[in-house]
Amino acid sequence: MSDMPPDWLPPHNMQLALIYARAANGVIGKDGTMPWHLPEDLAHFKTLTQGHPVIMGRKTWDSLPARFRPLPGRANIVVTRQADWHEIGAQRASNLREALLFAEQTATTTAWIMGGAQIYAQALPLASRVEVTEIDRDFDGDALAPTLGPEWQEVARSRHVGSGGLPFSFVTYERRCG
Ligand SMILES: NC(=O)c1ccc[n+]([C@@H]2O[C@H](COP(=O)([O-])OP(=O)(O)OC[C@H]3O[C@@H](n4cnc5c(N)ncnc54)[C@H](OP(=O)(O)O)[C@@H]3O)[C@@H](O)[C@H]2O)c1
Repeated sequence: MSDMPPDWLPPHNMQLALIYARAANGVIGKDGTMPWHLPEDLAHFKTLTQGHPVIMGRKTWDSLPARFRPLPGRANIVVTRQADWHEIGAQRASNLREALLFAEQTATTTAWIMGGAQIYAQALPLASRVEVTEIDRDFDGDALAPTLGPEWQEVARSRHVGSGGLPFSFVTYERRCG
């Protein structure tokens, strides 16, 4: 997947932000699901994304339990190359650019990129903010978080221990100006 920005820009009146949880070794998923159970992360995700459009790859949509999708209170925009893909409660987009145009129509300030690995990699060059739940343990997996280069500056960090004993931090990164 290319780290180069595409030859188009996201709508200028909307912030594009990534949100994900990652293990210490960069893993975000295994066999189409998340390899940990961290309710505090799910609550954090809900708080931040509520009322805003969420953009996801088709595999991440598939990874959501059927009873939890579409995610309520948010426009669910699903990126897929399948022209005939249709699910109740989801807006199909044929690429990331189209997804952002749909997000813009919701007239909110932020569009959240909620995975998975393919979509994070494509959206990172366009994003100005990244919210990461950094889990202090390695996990086996087959989907990896994007690499944040020196253009990303940590601006906030809070440390926690999950109800199951898993230590983690909520970390905010912003793109450096200039
Ligand atoms: N830890 C976290 O915070 C977190 C968050 C989200 C997901 N995950 C995990 O990440 C894994 C899924 O990630 P993934 O990388 O395998 O899949 P993904 O990014 O969720 O979805 C990939 C799919 O998106 C579509 N797609 C990708 N690029 C496209 C483009 N340029 N134009 C049109 N469609 C495009 C394709 O769908 P079609 O094949 O239908 O064409 C592709 O197969 C799962 O394990 C999930 O649990 C973890």
